[in-house]
Amino acid sequence: MTNDAGAWSIRTAEPGDVSAVARIYAEHVLHGTASFEEVPPVVEEMARRMRAVQDVGLPYIVAEVGGVVVGFAYAGPHRPRAAYRHTVEDSIYLAAAAQGRGLGRALLEQLILRCEATGRLRQMIAVIGDSANAGSIAVHARAGFRMVGTMTDVGFKFGRWLDTVIMQRPLGGA
Ligand SMILES: CC(C)(COP(=O)(O)OP(=O)(O)OC[C@H]1O[C@@H](n2cnc3c(N)ncnc32)[C@H](O)[C@@H]1OP(=O)(O)O)[C@@H](O)C(=O)NCCC(=O)NCCS
Repeated sequence: MTNDAGAWSIRTAEPGDVSAVARIYAEHVLHGTASFEEVPPVVEEMARRMRAVQDVGLPYIVAEVGGVVVGFAYAGPHRPRAAYRHTVEDSIYLAAAAQGRGLGRALLEQLILRCEATGRLRQMIAVIGDSANAGSIAVHARAGFRMVGTMTDVGFKFGRWLDTVIMQRPLGGA
């Protein structure tokens, strides 16, 4: 999909996008609290993660501005045990320069549509690193997620304790 002004577009991620995706994610791992990883995964690991999502028929998408990948989002299995198979967990990361222009919302809405189109998914969960992450909480609330709750002090990064905020949205009118 492309926005009205043609300023950005969203499409399915391809293997050739992995190095851009890994670069964007590495910035957030190294400097942000949305991800609780502390060491950026190498490109091969990011490629393995992308394949793992796409191999089980779940969406992994990228946003481009002027042909350059500036963000990505995917829905992975929420938890591996069998009874969780109708529940997914979303992830969205934008390059700093691409934030605050509606792209996060567009990526999340596209992810929801693609999950609903599978016809087999019932719930999407957001596990938001850091209760101070107002941008992520806002983008999920805007996309119809309700607040489930906060797990306090479950992470430790950059020398401080971090909360995890859990939000949830039904899929397909479930
Ligand atoms: C969180 C993130 C994906 C949001 O994407 P974005 O493109 O910056 O957000 P958008 O411009 O689409 O904003 C969507 C809505 O959230 C609101 N919003 C965005 N950032 C906000 C902030 N810091 N505080 C309050 N509201 C905010 C916007 O006003 C907008 O609301 P509206 O549609 O009612 O106008 C992006 O900022 C990002 O990559 N952040 C760092 C990594 C991260 O936290 N990822 C999420 C992991 S769960």
